[in-house]
Amino acid sequence: MIAPMPQRIVVGLSGSLRRGSLNTMLLRAARELAPDTLQVEIASIRDIPLYDGDLEAERGVPDAVRALKDRIASAAGLLLVTPEYNNSIPGVFKNAIDWLSRPTADIARVFGDRPVALMGATLGPGGTILAQTAWLQVLRTLGTRPWCGPRLMVSRADTVFDAEGNLKDEALATRVRDFMAGFARFMGA
Ligand code: FNR
Repeated sequence: MIAPMPQRIVVGLSGSLRRGSLNTMLLRAARELAPDTLQVEIASIRDIPLYDGDLEAERGVPDAVRALKDRIASAAGLLLVTPEYNNSIPGVFKNAIDWLSRPTADIARVFGDRPVALMGATLGPGGTILAQTAWLQVLRTLGTRPWCGPRLMVSRADTVFDAEGNLKDEALATRVRDFMAGFARFMGA
């Protein structure tokens, strides 16, 4: 009998909170189309409050932040699926990563040398290229190992999912599958 391939866990985060988020749909598609060697676990940034240094000084890192930090720290990789707001990173998503980077002494445990992949979806033609580029500064600062394979940018994203949020664009499905396979190889999976 052939032993099953060990799976590596990738924590997947969507940077949009809304129910009909195209980025969350893209994240679900990435989970489905990932190779057998990867297991994408979708986590949420919803319970992360606005960063407040007073709150941190008085009560420490909130439970939701602590739990997500531990999930990322024990995963083989991180997948950020980012919208683009005003040609950059959406505030809610950056806020979440800012909390996850606290306290500074814990950055290496959570982010250090962690493989990270970026993808994103927009309604417009740019496909999140500027948001993804802005993320690179953050990922570099946190000491991650960003995967700089082919970019996955989904423009006119309202046309590629069906009413149930499933990817209906076959060419894009192939790109997502190839992207996830490339990320798996980068992680040695
Ligand atoms: C946007 N949107 C947007 N799109 C884009 O291509 N470039 C941009 O700079 C912006 N800026 C922007 C700012 C703000 C405040 C909002 C709310 C939206 C449109 C964006 O691509 C669209 O709302 C997506 O649907 C957002 O992603 P989710 O929520 O569907 O995942």
